[in-house]
Amino acid sequence: MATDELLNQLRKYFGHAYFRSGQQEIIQDVMNGRDVLGILPTGVGKSLCFQLPALLNKGVTIVISPLISLMVDQVKQLKAKGFKAVIALNSFMDLKERSKELKQLDKYRLIYLSPELLQNPRVTLELKKLHVQLFVVDEAHCISQWGHEFRTDYLKLSQKIAELGNPPVLALSATATPEVQKDIKQQLDKPDMTSHINQMDKPNMSFSVEQFLYPEDKAKRIISIAHQKRTPTMIYFSSRSAAEQLAEELTNALEQRVAFYHGGMENMDRLLVQQQFMKDELDIICCTSAFGMGVDKPNIRRVIHYHFPAQIESFIQEIGRAGRDCQPCASLVLHTPNDQVLPQLLLEKEVPREEDVRRVFSWLSQNSKLPSDEEMLEKMNLSESQWNFLKFHLEHVQIIINGEVRQEDKLEAFRPEIVKRLNKRWKYKNQKYKQMLDWVLHKGCRRDRLYMPFQKGTAKPVVECCDYCGFSIDDLDIQKDSCNDSENFSSWKDRLDAVFLQESING
Ligand SMILES: Nc1ncnc2c1ncn2[C@@H]1O[C@H](COP(=O)(O)OP(=O)(O)OP(=O)(O)O)[C@@H](O)[C@H]1O
Ligand SMILES: [Mg+2]
Ligand SMILES: [Zn+2]
Repeated sequence: MATDELLNQLRKYFGHAYFRSGQQEIIQDVMNGRDVLGILPTGVGKSLCFQLPALLNKGVTIVISPLISLMVDQVKQLKAKGFKAVIALNSFMDLKERSKELKQLDKYRLIYLSPELLQNPRVTLELKKLHVQLFVVDEAHCISQWGHEFRTDYLKLSQKIAELGNPPVLALSATATPEVQKDIKQQLDKPDMTSHINQMDKPNMSFSVEQFLYPEDKAKRIISIAHQKRTPTMIYFSSRSAAEQLAEELTNALEQRVAFYHGGMENMDRLLVQQQFMKDELDIICCTSAFGMGVDKPNIRRVIHYHFPAQIESFIQEIGRAGRDCQPCASLVLHTPNDQVLPQLLLEKEVPREEDVRRVFSWLSQNSKLPSDEEMLEKMNLSESQWNFLKFHLEHVQIIINGEVRQEDKLEAFRPEIVKRLNKRWKYKNQKYKQMLDWVLHKGCRRDRLYMPFQKGTAKPVVECCDYCGFSIDDLDIQKDSCNDSENFSSWKDRLDAVFLQESING
């Protein structure tokens, strides 16, 4: 499709005046049926890279997405824009509803689902009946064995792609090192993918780290920052109780609306807090990493890390929530010498240790059928990711097939191999953690250092760069406008036209 024509379609359907840097090249290649790996910074608009082709293509676009809330949000937004032929299949749907939807999948042009649900044989069966024109993997770093978590179904996508008749594949991410990029292509079995690797740094963000001796000092500092100006702020914690505690402290100390959010809360409470924050009914949210992915709020100005995460990738995703409207925003990490204890403890829960392997293998040698995953975790005293790790490798060598132990005589021979793999993983995780810590303790330009593992150099920022270059979060300029695209391009009439046009497309 010609460049002008593509731009017209963007304006018509989405009301954006221009493509943001990187989008058009990706979309053009996707429309030409190529396999594409697209790396774009957080919040720039990766979704558009498949949403626009999905609108223009005649066939179906399948999107693999790691989080239900993320899919549901996108479906809601698209429906609000008038694109109705879209659905998020998920495990929260009751079985009857899911069964009904599965029977009428041909109604849809854009289908979101998780990698786990894609493995469901019934789902595969129904998807195979469709003409899949594009297969998208959003947050594609999850595919990599060096990705964020051990979501093992991500490693089984290539087989499903083949079963669906090998449609063109689009893999998207904001945080993939060259090593991970290579791994994504390999895991997807598409070594010749066209890569569009854009610079990942955000020129509208300033960075800073402040050192303290005691945790109490962090709270005082946050209160003083928040006091200066009321503006949407996220504060990240690695512990749920710390998030709750500071939320209470801030509520008492400030005349601002503060709430906490973490994975231990009821679903309804989480949803409520998220919606309040999105609608500007909260000023400050104290949260764990459970909050963030898929949160597309344009005007978050400050992301503060009370605790820093265990790897740079997570950090980049978390600060990526800020400044999505392209206006100035800032990141601040508060650090005390004591902060290094907690991440180490959390790391230990992620990867099994040698004694865990011994315990699990000994149990497997005496049993032939596996209980449910939950029971197994409890019985073996493992975390979910520890068990996922073991199960994945045992399934891979077919010692476990369909929840049954098949070749227990092979267990002993396999043990040294799995120990070798987990030691490798340990080493990797520790190295990642050290990279993050080095950044926190770095004495030099933080921008350059942060993106060093991913790319060569950074763009000249349009705001002050970092604390090393003279920035303090006290100077955050909230008025300045540094947007390079006009969000207000479309008049109500253009939008209306687009909606009518889509209605007619969708029947
Ligand atoms: N060309 C454009 N012009 C203006 N706004 C745009 C454009 N493309 C996308 N956007 C807006 O940018 C915001 C972020 O988009 P999106 O959620 O797709 O980002 P993302 O790159 O997927 O981010 P993340 O890394 O967090 O997943 C959305 O609100 C979207 O409407
Ligand atoms: Mg996205
Ligand atoms: Zn700098």
